[in-house]
This record gives sequence, structure tokens and C-alpha cells, in this order.
Amino acid sequence: MHPQEQEAAQPGEPVSPSVADAAPELPLILLSHRGPVTFGRNADGERVVSKGSGGLVTALLGLAQYLGDAVWICAAATEEDAAVAREAKRHPVRVITTPMPHVADEGEEGPDVLVDMIEIDEERQAEFYGVFSNPILWFIQHGLYGLAESPVLTAAEHHAFEHGYAGVNEQMADELARLVEERDGRALVLIQDYHFYLVADSVRRRCPNVVLSHFVHIPWPGPEAWRVLPPWIRERLLRGLLGSDIVAFHTRRYARNFLLCVQDLLGLDVDPDEMTISVDDRTVRVRHYPISVDPAALIALADSQEVHRSTDELSDRFLNSGNRLILRVDRTDPSKNVVRGFLAFGTLLDQHPELVGRVSFLALLQPSRKDVPEYSDYISNIGATVADINARHTREGQQPIDLQLVEDFPFAVAAYCVCDVLVVNALADGMNLVAKEFSVVNRRDGVLALSETTGAWEELGQDAVTLYPFDVQQQADALYEALMMSADERHRRLEAIRAQVVGSDIQRWLASQLDDLRVLMR
Ligand code: G6P
Repeated sequence: MHPQEQEAAQPGEPVSPSVADAAPELPLILLSHRGPVTFGRNADGERVVSKGSGGLVTALLGLAQYLGDAVWICAAATEEDAAVAREAKRHPVRVITTPMPHVADEGEEGPDVLVDMIEIDEERQAEFYGVFSNPILWFIQHGLYGLAESPVLTAAEHHAFEHGYAGVNEQMADELARLVEERDGRALVLIQDYHFYLVADSVRRRCPNVVLSHFVHIPWPGPEAWRVLPPWIRERLLRGLLGSDIVAFHTRRYARNFLLCVQDLLGLDVDPDEMTISVDDRTVRVRHYPISVDPAALIALADSQEVHRSTDELSDRFLNSGNRLILRVDRTDPSKNVVRGFLAFGTLLDQHPELVGRVSFLALLQPSRKDVPEYSDYISNIGATVADINARHTREGQQPIDLQLVEDFPFAVAAYCVCDVLVVNALADGMNLVAKEFSVVNRRDGVLALSETTGAWEELGQDAVTLYPFDVQQQADALYEALMMSADERHRRLEAIRAQVVGSDIQRWLASQLDDLRVLMR
């Protein structure tokens, strides 16, 4: 059964199937680009450890306690990570995952995972991550190219694919195969995301008895979008993924697009009813499992003193005398559509001057991928748009938009608690966990204004106010509708969204995958 077809449990009800019940019988190996922890040095020169960034890492960390003796392979992200990797001399570092991830002391008990950080040559990493993964794959999969002018693929991009992307994929596949062979050739391998499309096929060739799933966390577009790449690149990417037993996505639409790509671009037979592909003598299953959040952990954080202090501060600043607060929380990624979101807010204030001074827009944006030129240009564009709207609509020294470039999760949770409208107007987004996080902790019957092109819309769109991401006027009208909605209607909608999120939580995401994989562990 597909997750969306399962009935949503009510808040507080136990969720089934549970991860504990679905725990794998084979040794488990995870691979993702970002790891669960990253190392640095503090001002006194001492080694410090912090949680790896990104929602994917947060989601997997919370689950590590159910995964037995799992090993987690990732790229060494900092110089200090590389130093740790060298010291560990190819023996994984044991990390306790909760409540705060840290390196386990000798004999320390607790939910843990073995972290195997792989040092990647700097030049190769720059081509792998800064040229091919971001922007090329990311831009194709999020539909971000203005095709009249970009991309322009030259020898540099070909080299970035061959030397950078394929090179790093091979390095990771070598390590995976080594660990699988150490486990007598039998292991359950969970590969994550767009950085490693070539790994499954390479591991399968060397370890035919492995059970392998590849989860793609970003949108998967139809075949035409992939024609941006020449056949010798796009076919290798698709063939690479077909080394998996299960290729997984967040939504049914992405899964269908993948089947279409395999049919059109590789000419293979697919079964659209069973969602399977026959490859040589194997069957590859294409599935969807919507990723989610850990409601209990979010509620606990929302109840912490730190968050309470911030909610008081935010209420004092933004909510006096019946004033209202619109919020967005995003990475500064062009796919998040931040600029059009502000243009829509500017239009709202132009067309409803009575709202000026009564509605604020708080934007908490985490700077992201600043080494990629498209990303740094986008931050400048955001700044210019905000300056223009604030110049037009500042009243008595109060600016309508408060733009903060920060990464502070507890503060974001405080803002989720007290906002009246959450704006998610992404051009394309694999899932969007911000929408789910907000719905669990919001205390003001806030309205979710959600783009129809996010994965989350498939689950939550019915009770959200839908945004059409290219239409600034429509987004302004939708914001007005959200602000004017009756209290009863807001309450009803938020409760429905919350029930859906709680009933299909992060445990269910993993348990459903493990249930399907268990059948393949012959
Ligand atoms: C998305 C991707 C993740 C990635 C995260 C943060 O959610 O699906 O794989 O880790 O963005 O991006 P970054 O480039 O900082 O890892």
C-alpha cells in the first residue's frame, strides 16, 4: 500500500508500522553526501563536533537508534573531518546520535551509528559538488534553467561529470563494496539523493547479493527536462540508478516521471501498474514514500525554555494590537522562489494599504552553497527586492519585511509557533519539511500557504491555501485570503494538516521502506 493510501492516525495515536518492527535482518550501510556530524576547531584550538546540516541528516539521525549496527558513509565536509578520517585509519568513528550527536567515549552506551567519513580530493570535490551536482543536476531537477541562455555545457562541464561526479561516485562505491564484502557480501544498502546516481550499479556489479535502495530526495522531472544533458551522460545516470532494487521518491508523480524517463530515454520496458522495470534478469521497483518529521521531538523543542524566550520576544515585536505575522523559513536557494514571494507581499501592501503597519513578514533564510555563483547572485537579488519593498512601505520607522540570514533551528521553531501564515512558494521542492514542522507546533491556527509544486502539496494541499509559484498576483491574493480567513476555518484546516503529518511521520517513512526491502532479503 502506498503511504498516502494509509489512513492518517490521530495525534497521540501509535503509528504503524513502527521502525522497531521493521528493523532489518541484514547489516545496514547508509550513504549520503552530508554526514550526521561534522568536526571543527573552536577559538581555543580544541576539536568540536556539531550536527551535520540539512533536513535529510536530521531525519536519518532520529532513526539511527532503530538501525542496529549501522555504518553511515559520508564525505568529509571540513578540514577537521578529513583529519578525523585520517586518524580513524579507515575504521569508522562511533557517534551517539541523540539528544546531541557526539563521538562516543570508550564504553559509552546510547543510540549510535558508525560514521565513515571519506576524504575527497579538493579539486574533485569542487567539480563534483560545485559544478555537476549543484547547479547542473539540481537545476535540471528543479526546472531552474532559463533554457534560452543556460546551461552552456562545455569541456569544463564534461570534465566535471567524468572526473568530479563519476570519480566521487566511484570512490564511494569502492568504500561501500569494501564494507559489503567485509559482511560476506550480504548487506542492506540505503543510498541517499542526487549526489550518487552512479553508485548502485557499480556496487551491484561487485556485490550481486546486496539489497540496495536509492532514495531521491528532490523532484524527478519528465524526459524532456533530461534532454538538457547529452545521452552519454543522462543514460549513465539512469543506468546507475537501475542498479538498485528499489528507486524511491517522495511522491507518486516523481516515481511516474522516472518510469517515463526509463521508457523514453533508455527504451526499456516498464510496467506502469506494478511500477516496475525489468533490467537484465532483475526487477527494479519504483516506489514513493513521503518523508516527514518527528512530531514528539518538535513538540519537546517547542516547549523548551529557549524557544519560549524567543516566542515571547517575537510576540512583543510583531503581534501587539492585533498585528499579524507572515513567516518563511528557507535556504537561500533559487528553487525556493524567495524573490517572487516578496514581490507578492509588496503587491499585497500596494493593493491593500490598510494592511501597512499591521502585517509583518519575517524571513529566516539560511545562506546556502555560496560558492556556486547562481546562489550568491540570488542572495543579492533577494536583498535588493527587500530594500525596495521596505523603502515603499515603511511606516513610523517600522519596516514590513524583517530579513534575517541565519541558521538557528530553535528560533525557527519559535517563529513557527507564533506566525499567522507560513509561506512556502517554492518553484519545485522534493517534499518541503518546513510546511510539516510548522503544522506540528503552530499555536495561532496559522494558515499554510503552499505551492502546488512541492511534494508536500500532494499530502497537505487540500487544507492549505494553494500558491501558484510564477503568479505574483495570485500569491498576493492568496496571502490576503489567508489573512482574512475566519478563525473557525483556520482552526479546522490546521487540525487536518496536523493529523496528516502526525499520522505519517518520519518513523512511518523509514518503516514502510524497510517493510518493502525486507521482502527482498531472501
Ligand atoms: C536538499 C538535498 C540534501 C542537501 C540539502 C542541503 O534538501 O536534498 O541532500 O543536503 O538540500 O543542501 P547542501 O548543499 O547544503 O547539502
